[in-house]
Amino acid sequence: MTHPLTALNQRLGGIAYGGDYNPEQWPREVWQEDVRLMREAGVNLVTVGVFSWSRIQPRPDTYDWDMLDEVLDLLHGHGIAVDLSTPTAAPPPWFTRLHPDALPVTSAGTRLAHGSRQAFCPSHPAYAEAADAVVTALAGRYAEHPAVALWHVHNEWGNHNALCYCDTSAEAFRSWLRARHTTLDALNSAWGTDFWSQRYGDWDEIDPPRDTTAFRNPGQELDFRRFSSDALLGRHRAETALLRRLAPGIPVTTNLMGTLEKKTDGHAFAPACDLVSVDHYLTAADPDGHVDLALNADLARGMAGGRPWLLMEHSTSAVNWQPVNVAKTPGEMRRNSLTHLARGADGIMFFQWRQSAAGAEKWHSAMLPHAGTDSRVWREVSALGAELATLTEVTGTRVRADVALLFDWPAWWALELQARPSSRMRYLDMVRSWYAALWSLNITCDVVAPGADLTSYRAVVAPNLYLVGDKDAANLTDYVRRGGHLAVGCFSGAVDSQDRVRPGGSPGPLGEVLGLSVDEYLPLRPGERARLDDGSAVADWAERVEPRGCAAVVRFAKGAAGGPASGGPAVTRNDFGRGSASYVATLPSPQTLHDLIEALAHRAGVRPVVPPVRGVEAVRRTGPQGSFLFLVNHTPHHAKVPGVRGTGLLGTEVSDSGVLVPGGGVAVVREQAPARP
Ligand code: GAL
Repeated sequence: MTHPLTALNQRLGGIAYGGDYNPEQWPREVWQEDVRLMREAGVNLVTVGVFSWSRIQPRPDTYDWDMLDEVLDLLHGHGIAVDLSTPTAAPPPWFTRLHPDALPVTSAGTRLAHGSRQAFCPSHPAYAEAADAVVTALAGRYAEHPAVALWHVHNEWGNHNALCYCDTSAEAFRSWLRARHTTLDALNSAWGTDFWSQRYGDWDEIDPPRDTTAFRNPGQELDFRRFSSDALLGRHRAETALLRRLAPGIPVTTNLMGTLEKKTDGHAFAPACDLVSVDHYLTAADPDGHVDLALNADLARGMAGGRPWLLMEHSTSAVNWQPVNVAKTPGEMRRNSLTHLARGADGIMFFQWRQSAAGAEKWHSAMLPHAGTDSRVWREVSALGAELATLTEVTGTRVRADVALLFDWPAWWALELQARPSSRMRYLDMVRSWYAALWSLNITCDVVAPGADLTSYRAVVAPNLYLVGDKDAANLTDYVRRGGHLAVGCFSGAVDSQDRVRPGGSPGPLGEVLGLSVDEYLPLRPGERARLDDGSAVADWAERVEPRGCAAVVRFAKGAAGGPASGGPAVTRNDFGRGSASYVATLPSPQTLHDLIEALAHRAGVRPVVPPVRGVEAVRRTGPQGSFLFLVNHTPHHAKVPGVRGTGLLGTEVSDSGVLVPGGGVAVVREQAPARP
């Protein structure tokens, strides 16, 4: 069956291009200009209605479809398809007035007020009823509208309100706990409630982990995270079910947030969508923002099971929600967009079409800036639209990765709960450092869940699995037994899925495959360094590792310089079954990680997309229609990538000596012979 996104691309005649369109912010005359300029910029898909609830249902018992009727007709008349959004991310003021107790409550007990967006408790029945009603009305009205090509459920589930601690949430939490644990005894054991006299004798005694005197119960916190993500997923499923029933044949998506969102488990949401779409925003203060972008694109592809995915939002230039909102440099938006495309996106969309004149996001960039069409941003936006229109043949091709990087929301939640050995262990930092090593070696990886089917990967890396469930650990052990090559980061296998330490200590069920046990965790003081015998220095973390069959590949230096684990293994390797498993007992330097990944790739027979050229990112998409090599130059200097043959696209120069990638530019080559059929 044709993938729904590929079908959408066929309908659009190519790569999806556009953004959030919020016509309610503008008078009618402007809509005419909008559609004209959309055409000019090559826009073929816009997301409409994301925050339109107070317009389309101005009173509890009144719907007003005038704006949407007109806008959808107008867009359709100009050949622009619509990703029609349910408006449920922003309940109108009348809803809050009718149901003040549906406002979310913080862990400190403060009920938040109306006045922004997502001001609702995810578990409140009044919200569910109102949301279902407006979704039903919307779907009923537009199911047959020829402009509607995609449904966009809600907006970034849980971005602002995922964790609600109100009494309604408390009740829903209890029901969720009953379903998960069945008996109070099981819950008491899972949460270790005999510690500090927390044993529950009645379900009604259990509350969300609200602010309390000292450390909260970690089992309770972790389950509350799971419950909260599930509560939103329940709402996502409810809306999706309505849309599928009332408007069959139109695919449904929601914009996930990748690593930008800790609170909702993307791996759980993705399968509940017909096609995966994600938002990504650069952190202006991060000089390696483009590496984070690549990581998130690979996570989007991982969530999509390797199939094409849609970039629902990114920014043309600055955002407005960071401490200092730096404008993108000329060419940066193009590089960002083409990197997403290279990594499997078959649509490039932005927040938003026209920069707002009023409201909270008026200083956020858009496709059509305040300055109008005589502006750098507009010129780059229309140039990109024209370029994407020439890359239609890329749609539907796949990025094939030989490596999987494991990314797990529950592991992230658990690692960063209170009272750990070191608060300096940050999940995303670990993931990013491992990913950066792969990135710099031009090794493509899919970012997937630990329970994913790993059979197609030659190598698997797990930057951190502080929490690992028995099944996931067995999945990894089996993977290696059958010939896979695994590398695991420090402080992994520490607890089970309830944050309980298993008998025998770390790395728990990973001990067998890694061939070691961890005698003691030895966090370093802030500012302290320990030397390794590969010449690098590490900070923050060390472990005393007892080999149980593994070999030490790198050791902590002997004597004082080696820190608390001096002389002990820092990087290990265990030949196990037909494969191998490595462990890293510290937060390694980029050099140590680079060496580790290089050795792992060598053992596993993983090859780079092309041999690395400093600062030039390389990704390949392949399919029956050909092989497309994308080279993104993140340096200001021209670069030559040798050994590539084929036809240059987007003006790319290919010669016998290789491909020229202009400084800050992107080269695309339709390769002569697909690298891998
Ligand atoms: C996203 C959100 C958009 C807009 C954007 C600004 O998180 O979905 O509605 O607020 O951020 O960067």
